[in-house]
Amino acid sequence: MCGIVAYLGKERAAPILIDGLKALEYRGYDSAGIAVLEKDGVFLERAVGKVAVLEDKVAKRGESEGSVGIAHTRWATHGGVTERNAHPHRACGGAIYLVHNGIIENYKEIKSELKSKGHEFLSETDTETIAHLIEDIRKDVSVLEEAVRLALGKVRGTYGIAVVSEDEPEKIVAARNFSPLILGVGKNEFIIASDATPIMKFTNNVIYINDGEIVTVTPSGYRIRTIGNEEISRDPEVLDLEIGIVDKGNYPHFLLKEIDSEPDAVRDATRGRLEIGSGNAKLGGIERVEDEIVQVNRLHICACGTAYLAGAVGEYMIEEYAGVPVELDLGSEFRYRKPIFEENDIFLAISQSGETADTLASLREAKEKNVLTLGVVNVVGSTVSRETDAGVYQHAGPEISVASSKAFVSQVAIMALLTLFMGRRRGMSLVTGERIAKELSAVPAFMESILRRKEEMKKIAARYASYTNFLFLGRKYNYPIALEGALKLKEISYIHAEGYASGEMKHGPIAMIDENFPSVVIAPQDSVYEKNISNIQEIKARRGPVLAIATEGDKDIAKLADDVFYIPKTLEMLTPLLSVVPLHLFAYYIAASKGLDVDKPRNLAKSVTVE
Ligand code: M6R
Repeated sequence: MCGIVAYLGKERAAPILIDGLKALEYRGYDSAGIAVLEKDGVFLERAVGKVAVLEDKVAKRGESEGSVGIAHTRWATHGGVTERNAHPHRACGGAIYLVHNGIIENYKEIKSELKSKGHEFLSETDTETIAHLIEDIRKDVSVLEEAVRLALGKVRGTYGIAVVSEDEPEKIVAARNFSPLILGVGKNEFIIASDATPIMKFTNNVIYINDGEIVTVTPSGYRIRTIGNEEISRDPEVLDLEIGIVDKGNYPHFLLKEIDSEPDAVRDATRGRLEIGSGNAKLGGIERVEDEIVQVNRLHICACGTAYLAGAVGEYMIEEYAGVPVELDLGSEFRYRKPIFEENDIFLAISQSGETADTLASLREAKEKNVLTLGVVNVVGSTVSRETDAGVYQHAGPEISVASSKAFVSQVAIMALLTLFMGRRRGMSLVTGERIAKELSAVPAFMESILRRKEEMKKIAARYASYTNFLFLGRKYNYPIALEGALKLKEISYIHAEGYASGEMKHGPIAMIDENFPSVVIAPQDSVYEKNISNIQEIKARRGPVLAIATEGDKDIAKLADDVFYIPKTLEMLTPLLSVVPLHLFAYYIAASKGLDVDKPRNLAKSVTVE
């Protein structure tokens, strides 16, 4: 989704801004641009396509010397993917330049009013309206940050913005409403960005800008005010991220690197938290509200996409082993469906980025109802992590590929920890707790044994790469994994894939099965094994090709399925952590064999910050 970088310091801004945009590329975008304040005017360049195209254009035009500038990667919402619609946008008077993430809902009304006053618009975007609005207000209010503040008072919608003006060349004004913005405070320099990745190279001193706040940076410092004109005093805090992690090393794609680090993601999620001897989990981030968690009446889990599927695995675990009723919701539905909360209900948001708009809106809805809110989040300091009452960090490190992989297994591992945490405080026996804890501690090594057989999955994937439709089937704990396998395949290879609960096949999808419609069936030796075997038989009776994900040593399944990929035996509730690994590899190898942009699939964004 859109990305913002802004720089004010002593260095040349253009290369810093381009580098910053490169760091944001993983979020997904379709065009990019920069505007740098020069001694004699503004250096504005925009390009459709990769940041490399923009970089090339900037280099061809020669040196831009200015040390204050703003830049943007755009993910089209209002208006097509054109250079004219790319940001930065300029107001018609020529002094004001602006970049924006988010959506301005009342832009049409504002635009028509401004047009009637003589403002001329050059793009189809909602964003350009804010630039003209600021310009219009500046006829009466000369100070840029005050004009921005008054303009934002008239705007309805979501935004992260950064604004510069030719007539106040040593200033950047940025503001946030429902779209993340972070200020990096370096030595005599400031960098503002929509996520931490462009900032990490410069400094680890950061300030998170909150909704409704405006930050102004000048060579003499920063100042934060609210849109209501209240002064805010906030010191930088230390950002805890390692630069080295955001590097794909010798891997052809970040996704393969991230799938390969799934065992470490589980290790990092459980390190210091798993207490095998007492069959328990120590979760420092939620201990403060332990009493309320023990008395929980119903847990409302809310998330989107792959994070939702981690929640779906959690639903099975928590209900079966902790005896807590769970209600699972998609963020995009929860926020509109008038959810009912009862006494002692708890809301749990799961989000890798911690910025997903639908999850965030649902969290705010729950907060309004005075429910205790918890979060399972990967990005430290993200909005969900800051707005929940308590939570558990994933510690999975930055996930760069748009398709989520290591974050998913880390979330599932945390679901298992939560199960122990709640279960052991609500009557789960020591023996059961110990068994789960011990088996969970063995999972990373099991995952490694699967990953050592990557080449085997690569060969299987090659045999299936030419099919155009897939059915993914799984039951109970592996039903969410069937959905995840299908989601991953469609999002990175653009192949149609449907995930179904195995038992539902006979209620519809079976009509599609023939020799050209393969099924991937997750059939470990668990409590629903026999039922999955019957499904495979039904598919084979209709000549459908079958790839089975099965438990090591299961020779019978090999007689039925066309291909089998074996996973180690583990507890039923933990099989998702193993069965998902071959499915991630399957999707990866099919997409890579087609030469697709695996890490940045078309039309997708890493963190979906608009509705
Ligand atoms: O950052 P979040 O975990 O809140 O993101 C949720 C979804 O947007 C995300 O999982 C998405 O479905 C991925 N592209 C899946 O691979």
